[in-house]
Amino acid sequence: MALLLLLLLLTVSTVSADEDAFIGVNIGTALSDMPSPIQVVALLKAQNIRHVRLYDADQAMLHALANTGIRVTVSVPNEQLLGIGQSNATAANWVARNVIAHVPATNITAIAVGSEILTTLPNAAPVLVSALKFIHSALVASNLDGQIKVSTPQSSSIILDSFPPSQAFFNRSWDPVMVPLLKFLQSTRSYFMLNVYPYYDYMQSNGVIPLDYALFRPLPPNKEAVDANTLLHYTNVFDAIVDAAYFSMSYLNFTNIPIFVTESGWPSKGDSSEPDATLDNANTYNSNLIRHVLNNSGTPKHPGIVVSTYIYELYNEDSRPGPVSEKNWGLFDANSMPIYTLHLTGAGTLLSNDTTNQTFCVAKEGADPKMLQAALDWGCGPGKVDCTFLLQGQPCYEPNNVVAHSTYAFNAYFQKMAKSPGTCDFKGVATITTSDPSHGSCIFPGSSGRNGSFPNTTSLAPSSNSSTSGCHSVYFYGAGSFTTSVIIGVLLMSMVCL
Ligand SMILES: *[C@@H]1O[C@H](CO)[C@@H](O)[C@H](O)[C@H]1NC(C)=O
Ligand SMILES: *[C@@H]1O[C@H](CO)[C@@H](O)[C@H](O)[C@H]1NC(C)=O
Ligand SMILES: *[C@@H]1O[C@H](CO)[C@@H](O)[C@H](O)[C@H]1NC(C)=O
Ligand SMILES: *[C@@H]1O[C@H](CO)[C@@H](O)[C@H](O)[C@H]1NC(C)=O
Ligand SMILES: *[C@@H]1O[C@H](CO)[C@@H](O)[C@H](O)[C@H]1NC(C)=O
Ligand SMILES: *[C@@H]1O[C@H](CO)[C@@H](O)[C@H](O)[C@H]1NC(C)=O
Ligand SMILES: *[C@@H]1O[C@H](CO)[C@@H](O)[C@H](O)[C@H]1NC(C)=O
Ligand SMILES: *[C@@H]1O[C@H](CO)[C@@H](O)[C@H](O)[C@H]1NC(C)=O
Ligand SMILES: *[C@@H]1O[C@H](CO)[C@@H](O)[C@H](O)[C@H]1NC(C)=O
Ligand SMILES: *[C@@H]1O[C@H](CO)[C@@H](O)[C@H](O)[C@H]1NC(C)=O
Repeated sequence: MALLLLLLLLTVSTVSADEDAFIGVNIGTALSDMPSPIQVVALLKAQNIRHVRLYDADQAMLHALANTGIRVTVSVPNEQLLGIGQSNATAANWVARNVIAHVPATNITAIAVGSEILTTLPNAAPVLVSALKFIHSALVASNLDGQIKVSTPQSSSIILDSFPPSQAFFNRSWDPVMVPLLKFLQSTRSYFMLNVYPYYDYMQSNGVIPLDYALFRPLPPNKEAVDANTLLHYTNVFDAIVDAAYFSMSYLNFTNIPIFVTESGWPSKGDSSEPDATLDNANTYNSNLIRHVLNNSGTPKHPGIVVSTYIYELYNEDSRPGPVSEKNWGLFDANSMPIYTLHLTGAGTLLSNDTTNQTFCVAKEGADPKMLQAALDWGCGPGKVDCTFLLQGQPCYEPNNVVAHSTYAFNAYFQKMAKSPGTCDFKGVATITTSDPSHGSCIFPGSSGRNGSFPNTTSLAPSSNSSTSGCHSVYFYGAGSFTTSVIIGVLLMSMVCL
């Protein structure tokens, strides 16, 4: 038995072992003032969101996503499924228009065929697998099947008896669809797309599921859910649902199909019957979800097998019908303002508007330019900050003025000194801020946004042979202020000659 389990683990590992998990975001568009595709892409870039799923294959959106490096899952909307599932030619046309026309400029990595078809559009279920096959063969014909996976997102409600996970199985009424679907996913090395909503499981459990368990909050060991058959411990609902899907697949003898969670999230607002749709809970759920997924820890059944996940969703969709919560799953409003600030310190680069622990050192407003200049020269010289990014043609050259350049140097020094007390002072002309001063391609050290991490301190650090670095006459401002250049000249001369 243990050997069998090990073998199962190994087979699954071969599918996705050396990939890191990613967090993506779903982009629903039911907003009364939907931002333009260009605005959407600007937000994605600002938040370092590298993976998105669209609910259609909107041409303008795909166009805006071109050459951004963002990975895109496009979708066949449910209302187009019947046509595509009944006609190879219709499917081929769909792929030509919505995929082939956009790759490789737009990096389309998957096609989600329909959304929760079995539970929302059961009359289309008989043609679901044909639709996947037709779309796949159109990709094969264009030699795109290696890079673009075809699958279909399922609601987790097709999984019955989902706790304990080891006893879960897919609703048997759907076997005639599920078995060929899983065969298709297996033979095309695609993945099972699953929507996972601990919020609904929690809401429907009438108190059986503790809120903390749904929100990934630590539980006392005696409250942890244990699967009596496997003795696996479950510390959160998300993992339990994903494992229930693995067990449901293995019940049908499919043991090597990886899972992508195509939707998961928590609403930040609800009506009186939805008291747990709150800002705090939404923030806690999504922050913990992101940390959990990016930790690559997998699930209790398949530790280390990553479960990449798309958060539902980018924007609050105010035009969606239904209860108040329906309109409040978003991370941002239509003006790209965050609904809440995720607690993501330490989770890397994504959605890092979290300023709770992100601080920068900048030039004080109104500081004396001469003092700034002197401090800049000290920072790039004796302070051993690498100021190459300030050189002409480098990302932080513009704006070419002493405030911007000294801000860069102050911050680089502050970060280099691990933000220790007193390292953001510079004789009183510097101050600490929580707003990231990065702009355009000029990414400041310590910024977790955009390009991610800390600039490479090794390569950015001035060489230890720094007699030269102190003498670089690189901090001149082209046509800046006359007085400034004179002062630099003087300072540089004195430094060179010391
Ligand atoms: C597109 O995305 C895939 C999957 O992440 C990646 O391997 C590939 O390098 C990307 N292609 C481009 C052109 O960025
Ligand atoms: C569907 O069309 C593709 C070409 O787009 C072809 O390669 C494939 O054999 C066709 N499949 C069926 C089932 O007709
Ligand atoms: C299983 O699926 C069938 C067909 O959709 C449905 O009628 C039935 O209620 C489902 N069973 C359960 C227990 O949800
Ligand atoms: C799974 O495999 C076992 C052993 O080969 C077999 O007994 C069982 O019928 C299979 N189940 C399904 C659903 O195919
Ligand atoms: C991350 O993974 C490690 C080991 O895999 C585990 O000990 C730790 O609890 C995980 N952290 C989170 C936040 O899941
Ligand atoms: C979040 O980040 C974006 C892009 O960097 C910025 O425009 C926005 O003002 C930030 N919001 C908050 C609350 O910091
Ligand atoms: C915040 O940053 C400081 C120093 O950079 C670090 O010591 C501290 O542990 C961080 N706090 C959190 C909550 O990450
Ligand atoms: C991002 O980082 C890489 C290496 O860490 C660097 O080559 C690249 O120029 C950076 N991009 C920006 C926009 O700073
Ligand atoms: C950082 O710099 C070192 C030495 O220059 C280099 O080996 C390493 O690859 C760099 N790391 C990144 C992330 O650029
Ligand atoms: C620094 O100087 C020493 C001796 O002068 C030399 O061996 C070393 O390679 C230099 N290091 C760098 C990074 O230039």
